[in-house]
Amino acid sequence: MSERKKIAVLISGRGSNMASLISASMDPSYPAEIALVISNKPGAAGLERAGEFGIETATVDHTEFSGDRQAFERALDEKLKARGIEFVALAGFMRLLSSWFVTQWRDRVINIHPALLPSFKGLHTHERALEEGVKLHGATVHFVSAEMDDGPIIIQGAVPVLEDDTPDTLGERVLAVEHKIYPKALALVASGRAKVKDHRVAIAGEDTEQAGPVLIWP
Ligand code: GAR
Repeated sequence: MSERKKIAVLISGRGSNMASLISASMDPSYPAEIALVISNKPGAAGLERAGEFGIETATVDHTEFSGDRQAFERALDEKLKARGIEFVALAGFMRLLSSWFVTQWRDRVINIHPALLPSFKGLHTHERALEEGVKLHGATVHFVSAEMDDGPIIIQGAVPVLEDDTPDTLGERVLAVEHKIYPKALALVASGRAKVKDHRVAIAGEDTEQAGPVLIWP
């Protein structure tokens, strides 16, 4: 139990991915403990949700730093270090992190993105997937680099795109996959099985004959 890694989840909104991580961590054999949830938006719905789970929460409001991104990130960094946080999971955290922060937390920050990266970085991923007519869409958990929605990929989950999909129906199926893959990815990272090597993620103990836990098919 004492080896469970201490995780902070950073959010900006409703926190459904955060809730999936917290739920997974309720199992004592899960290798990570969600010790802290931080929002950059005061009143984010996810803060209340985390509180209902009995998780410590904090707000670091980016608007209070007069556009000084480093000052905002130093405040975040201080909170994380003060709480003994070992890994950071971004879950709908809609602020770009600078190379200063990413260097401080190298290979210890992961993010979930609602697309099969490197396709559809940025916003409105489901609309753009439908516009492009892709037949497979999905979600990706990756280590964070200083570029937006970029960095070594840990796990991907795919869903088929259906003929009559709207951004909402497609987004719902992708979100269901997000809730499956994020707890798996965090477990791989916290247990030390997923490691960055030459800008790619190697999974220790992975059976090379099979996709194993790092690809979730429709
Ligand atoms: C999720 O779909 C997540 O993948 C996305 O924001 C949503 C947050 O929902 N993140 C990004 O687009 C980051 N580039 P949630 O607050 O319910 O987890």
